[in-house]
Amino acid sequence: MQVFPSGFLWGVATAGHQIEGKNFFSDWYAWEKLGKVRNNDTSEKACGSWDNLERDVKALKELGVKTYRYSIEWARVEPRINKFDEESLSRYRNFTIRLVEEGIKPMVTLHHFVNPLWFSELGGWENRENLRYFKRYVEKVVTSLGSFVPIWITINEPNVYSIQSYLRGEWPPEIKDMGRAMQVLSNFLFAHNIAYGAIKEKYPASMVGIAYNFMPFYPARRHNLFDRVIASRLDYTYNNAFLDSLIKGRLLRPLGKGESIERIRGNIDFIGVNYYTRMFVKYASPEPELLEPTTEKTDMGYEFYPEGLGDVCLKCFKRYKLPIMVTENGIADATDEKRWRYIEAALKSLHSSIENGARVFGYLYWSLMDNFEWKEGYSMKFGLYETDFENLTLNPRKSVEKYAAIIEANAIE
Ligand code: NOJ
Repeated sequence: MQVFPSGFLWGVATAGHQIEGKNFFSDWYAWEKLGKVRNNDTSEKACGSWDNLERDVKALKELGVKTYRYSIEWARVEPRINKFDEESLSRYRNFTIRLVEEGIKPMVTLHHFVNPLWFSELGGWENRENLRYFKRYVEKVVTSLGSFVPIWITINEPNVYSIQSYLRGEWPPEIKDMGRAMQVLSNFLFAHNIAYGAIKEKYPASMVGIAYNFMPFYPARRHNLFDRVIASRLDYTYNNAFLDSLIKGRLLRPLGKGESIERIRGNIDFIGVNYYTRMFVKYASPEPELLEPTTEKTDMGYEFYPEGLGDVCLKCFKRYKLPIMVTENGIADATDEKRWRYIEAALKSLHSSIENGARVFGYLYWSLMDNFEWKEGYSMKFGLYETDFENLTLNPRKSVEKYAAIIEANAIE
């Protein structure tokens, strides 16, 4: 039996746009309506969480989670520039209070990929000036919910957002430009810092972090020097450049040229690790080649490699010496045949990273329920609960009972 540290924060994670439905004033919804998503899906209904607050609370209670990570949709709180929607704010506030009543620690994400449409039309995250709008929104949320929220995530996966939306052009606003992607990424550093300051000013004891996507890169041919160089370069750029910049107080390449951002330095209380898979890379000209996995895959086409979670946490702890929370880890698996194997292997490796010295204080499975998986629409099934998208009911998969047992025991067999 492997026991986790006492008080370990077991939980699950979701994001507003992916579960709520009717996020009509968002840039994503506008884009989905253009038929950009697989099967022409849109987030119009999603899981209906906006109107089924108690259904979600019940599912969380059945799992016995200690914490729940969810996000606030800026497009609901400020559907038109400068016009705040108090009703939406109180819906979020009520939900937050319900969690507290049930003994579940609310963990709130302030930005999870989606923007109000008006914000995007003003140039979104590319424009440093726009950060003042983000500041005002964060202040609103903190004033409304802050006294109930012990743990905050300012920005979800800033690296994934800038790559998907500004480098690969796969997500709105479909831009393919390295320079612009790096501008967005460095603006997220400032955005994080703004949110960090706004939360800490009012609630100095709260914990404020970023959920960052970690994906280790390995050389395709272990003894090939070119592969090794390219793998270590990509690994640094993807996994470390952003957090190193934040922690050292300098805009490091490729975010900048080493300019000082002294006032930001170290403004982060913990690192949120989002982990799904790893990547093998081969030197090729003009672009390095990312290999397709040859072993078992998940429905997303990722290599089935849950064991990587522990390595990532240990490396991250050694490098940054900050407490870590696994803010997302999970698998898309429509058959539900692989899910438990994935979770168990991930938790075993997480446990050994803790034994080897990583200070990890929680683990969140992604996701509570099947939901709107961005460009993949509803085709990807990440849920512990299967969502019936017709009746908007949640049906527990096998892993619900198993995960609940681990939470209860604070240990894996
Ligand atoms: C990371 C993202 O934060 C989340 O929105 C997404 O659904 C999961 N990974 C699964 O891809």
